[in-house]
Amino acid sequence: MTDVSERNGLKLADANDPLALFTRWMDDAKVSELNDPNAMSLATCTPDGRPSVRIVLLKRFNERGFAFYTNGESRKGHELRENQHAALCLHWKSRQRQVRIEGPISELPPEDVDAYFKRRHRMSQIGAWASHQSQPLASREELLKRTEEFEKKFPGEVPRPPYWTGFLVKPETMEFWQEREYRLHDRFVFHAEAGGGWSKQRLYP
Ligand SMILES: Cc1cc2nc3c(=O)[nH]c(=O)nc-3n(C[C@H](O)[C@H](O)[C@H](O)COP(=O)(O)O)c2cc1C
Repeated sequence: MTDVSERNGLKLADANDPLALFTRWMDDAKVSELNDPNAMSLATCTPDGRPSVRIVLLKRFNERGFAFYTNGESRKGHELRENQHAALCLHWKSRQRQVRIEGPISELPPEDVDAYFKRRHRMSQIGAWASHQSQPLASREELLKRTEEFEKKFPGEVPRPPYWTGFLVKPETMEFWQEREYRLHDRFVFHAEAGGGWSKQRLYP
């Protein structure tokens, strides 16, 4: 049997810092994924326990959390404010790897969101004004018309819409999954410990 995990360097004994492992896997994915290596599923939940999931882009990560940006008035925005927990899942097909992250969320401070918004392409900034994300839209023409209106309204710098925001998922658990032969995959879960640091455990695949 080929030792795929050996080939990819995934050994429980060597994996002590899930952030370092995540960084390495993300760097690998940047080299081999066709596009959007930072695309991740974001699961949110209503207060009465109905989940929903969609893709967002991971824009930054460190020990404090995993950051993404969105419209705070979207479905996810409402669900995140009502139930401040989220789950993330990244799947890198080119590497046959999955990472799951779960934890509480917080909203990023306005200075952070402003700084990120400023770096966006002008038309993405205009789009953030034009789109009532997750609301019914009568026609594509209406969206294009609104885009033109905001282009005229903001000929120079485009301010950040007040509802446009960002969230941070603080990792309480991080799980790494590496495909191996005959479905005998490697699966490691890390739990953040109260006093700092992580405990780790191998799971049946
Ligand atoms: C590859 C990819 C990246 C995306 N990135 C984002 C993102 O960073 N932020 C965002 O608000 N929506 C992003 N979307 C769109 C979302 O998946 C979703 O359609 C939208 O945010 C509305 O979700 P909601 O109605 O559940 O709030 C992305 C979609 C894809 C396929």
